[in-house]
Amino acid sequence: MHFNLEVLGIDIGGTGIKGAPVIIETGEISSKRFRLPTPKKGLPQDIAETVHAVSKHFSWDGKIGITLPVRIRNGIACTAANIDQSWIGTNVNKLFSKVLESEVTTLNDADAAGYAETHYGAGKGAKGKTLVLTLGTGIGSSLFMNSLLIPNLELGHLRMYGTTAEILAANSTRKRDHLSWETWADRLQDYLTYIEFLLDPDLIILGGGISRPKRTKHYFHLLKTQARLLPAHFQNEAGIIGAACAAHNQADR
Ligand code: BGC
Repeated sequence: MHFNLEVLGIDIGGTGIKGAPVIIETGEISSKRFRLPTPKKGLPQDIAETVHAVSKHFSWDGKIGITLPVRIRNGIACTAANIDQSWIGTNVNKLFSKVLESEVTTLNDADAAGYAETHYGAGKGAKGKTLVLTLGTGIGSSLFMNSLLIPNLELGHLRMYGTTAEILAANSTRKRDHLSWETWADRLQDYLTYIEFLLDPDLIILGGGISRPKRTKHYFHLLKTQARLLPAHFQNEAGIIGAACAAHNQADR
């Protein structure tokens, strides 16, 4: 008899907290995703309680992987770019395991998206250096060497043209400033050229909602990279799938 091993993945974003059980063997989501709005101020305790409500929705009592848009080192949040500053210094592992009364693994959201892509998605089986960039509210980044994560990169915060890369080229900037696809792709191109010079990846995967085919058709052909360039296989589920995968592999930061 064959039982599917499942882990609950929960992805904490600026507007929603989403979760679903993930089948570890295949990376598939086994029941419909459940989403609650992110509490207004985004404070740690409020978010932890919402995460708890998501796990209760699935009556979960197994392993849980949780993403946050922060750098996490030894279980402690060290940065907070698009989230309340009170996260900095919070022991996120302690907070979530106490509120959820479960074994939790926490990691950066872009590192989770990278896990999803390199284990099950566009970068599955890729040799050498794979860089995954998520273009959403901010820019998240994760780097893998032969599927091994080099964590906590924060390449969205590279300085460019007197600002940061994520302020210049995140998808939120494109929408907020009503940039044409050409203008936005131009900015993204400069960013990719800069990153390629610094890291020399073999494969670059662009993720986030912007990697859907109905979006990539507007800008992918405008980009030129030395590395192979691919849209992510997973869009909004990447964080959930990668969180579950990291929890399964005990890839705590
Ligand atoms: C944060 C990263 C995060 C990215 C995507 C950036 O502002 O610094 O930690 O991965 O946004 O959410």
